[in-house]
Amino acid sequence: MQRPLPPSWYTDPAIHQREMADLFGRAWLPACHGSEVATAGSYVTLRCGGQEIALVRGRDGLLRAFHNACRHRAHRLLEGAGTLKAVITCPYHAWAYGLDGGLRHAPHSEAVTGFDRNDFGLRPLAVAEMAGFVMVNHDADAAPPDGFAGLEQRLLADFPGLPAMRPVRRRQADLAANWKLIVENYLECYHCDTAHPSFGNFDMTTWKHIVGQGWSRQGRVAQGSRDTDVGHDTIEGLSAWWQWPAVFWARALGPDSFVAAFHEPLGVDRTRQTRVVYTASGEESDELRTFNDLFDTVFAEDTSVVESVQRGLGSMGYRGGALVEQEAARAGWSEHGLHHFQDLIRETLGGNRAA
Ligand code: FES
Ligand SMILES: [Fe+2]
Repeated sequence: MQRPLPPSWYTDPAIHQREMADLFGRAWLPACHGSEVATAGSYVTLRCGGQEIALVRGRDGLLRAFHNACRHRAHRLLEGAGTLKAVITCPYHAWAYGLDGGLRHAPHSEAVTGFDRNDFGLRPLAVAEMAGFVMVNHDADAAPPDGFAGLEQRLLADFPGLPAMRPVRRRQADLAANWKLIVENYLECYHCDTAHPSFGNFDMTTWKHIVGQGWSRQGRVAQGSRDTDVGHDTIEGLSAWWQWPAVFWARALGPDSFVAAFHEPLGVDRTRQTRVVYTASGEESDELRTFNDLFDTVFAEDTSVVESVQRGLGSMGYRGGALVEQEAARAGWSEHGLHHFQDLIRETLGGNRAA
């Protein structure tokens, strides 16, 4: 019998701090879709992995990511999104940085003995692209990921147009729950019959959950497939991926629309969820709007359960239960995907040292 993670891992601020440093500080995290920073000089700002960052497309066409804090005395450099001309100028004392992050000009700094502009460039993050999405890593020396363990290829096989899609709907909410609860809830459909009235009669018999390396995929296996025949190409209709540590990718209505949900921990018991729908046409059809409205309801149902679990984890009557699994059959109702996720958490935080 597999025991879940200890309740304190969802409530202890010390664990949260370790996760931000050792997990979100080292993982590849989704920042935005490439279409949001497509042209030279364009930029977006966002909070990612607990840090305020800016993504900037240089005049040379290269996309770079920086901490959004001036090297002089830490004023925020950029707001929102937009297009830059030649430099990024700090609103406080007008230090000016090139789009490559190098400090170009610091007014009156010639008077400062030993001051070298080269020592004060913006702190970079590593940047990579995955199926049209911009991924960043706070470790600027992180090795470029090799296809994200096969996930990029799988996404592109199902959504060849994904890199050219554009966002058509965005929903943001702050949930009163630890980020891991939101992931864990997504990683099992054990709750689908009871907690999702919006699903109607959910047929669990053909729902499967395939676990890869740092990602997993759930979906309905094509009629007539054997139980063990659960390769990604046999899934039809709605399917839902999870990618380490906290991103959900999902098919919407077909190959020309796509859903993503990003999760940003705001504290040990608070998580910002941003859901975005993308389409090839850049428009939301009536059919897709109806589907997306249903998705909004499904996520509201999930929010209700994870916030309830967060409160329950503080109960003196809860000491940690048991996972209900049937991994061999990759059964959709089984909690083996959640088990995989919790193993990665234990590995990252160093076994029981965090208990
Ligand atoms: S804080 Fe940016 S120029 Fe002073
Ligand atoms: Fe759910």
